[in-house]
Amino acid sequence: MAFVPGRRFGAGARNGLDCDMAAKPDWDAEQYLRFEDERTRPSLDLLQRVRLAAPARCIDIGCGPGNSTELVAARFPQAEVSGLDSSPDMIEKARKRLPGLAFALADLDTWSAESRYDLIFANAVLQWLPDHAALFARLAAALKPGGVLAVQMPDNLAEPSHRAMAETAAEGPWAARLAGAAEARASIGSFSDYRRWLAAAGCASDLWRTTYVHALDGADAIVEWFKSTGLKPYLDPLPAEQRAGFIARYRERIAQAYPAEPDGKVLLRFPRLFIVATRAAA
Ligand SMILES: C[S@@+](CC[C@H](N)C(=O)[O-])C[C@H]1O[C@@H](n2cnc3c(N)ncnc32)[C@H](O)[C@@H]1O
Repeated sequence: MAFVPGRRFGAGARNGLDCDMAAKPDWDAEQYLRFEDERTRPSLDLLQRVRLAAPARCIDIGCGPGNSTELVAARFPQAEVSGLDSSPDMIEKARKRLPGLAFALADLDTWSAESRYDLIFANAVLQWLPDHAALFARLAAALKPGGVLAVQMPDNLAEPSHRAMAETAAEGPWAARLAGAAEARASIGSFSDYRRWLAAAGCASDLWRTTYVHALDGADAIVEWFKSTGLKPYLDPLPAEQRAGFIARYRERIAQAYPAEPDGKVLLRFPRLFIVATRAAA
């Protein structure tokens, strides 16, 4: 799949962080954490492939409510671990959850590391940022020699869950308002793209794709799952009364695309791309 730069979403100010970020529709940490177990599993799988012995400096970028940061800190207790995110609500939750760690409100679009890291961990965030060729080069440059960039991104834009978002957006009274919503998230690159971009930045790559299958409690649970993530670019621009209409029509499509199993559960297939890039030792 070719990389298509996306419009920025969930990001903050272009010329100064805190002011503009406060004006953007925030992420909802509580809604996000309704599926904490399922959402944290890719971080565990990613971390397992990070073969660092005793990293000194680690950062969790797009740390959300701190669930992924907690895993990094537990795995490397000797390290100085920090987190950053552009969402005030997420950062507030992360600080409460892990009061001993440093969390910063910052936009990855403009963020640059003050000094280099042994580990940059990015679970489920980089799909919200455009121009991955430049982004991955920038992140690789923030690694110490021998350092690791560990990334997981949903690879689900072609799944029924996401096709239904675009179809619902195109057919309702909200069509004009949502004309650009699908571009909020970039189509991620191919294995070949990331391997090439990272090699040019001096990194060797370990790449894989996993499809998780989540048995959820019916169509409503799928809608609730995506309300805090994939549906945000479609719901945030709508007034409250249209939001309810959009969700109702989206739910109809989801109920058709994800029929109930004999036990009443529905199976949400969720493909994800993993990248563990190691910068060459000096
Ligand atoms: C799906 S959550 C992932 C949270 C956590 N890493 C996890 O593993 O569950 C994505 C996070 O990325 C953050 N985010 C999105 N765009 C961002 C940007 N441009 N800069 C920093 N954080 C961003 C969101 O605020 C959100 O907390």
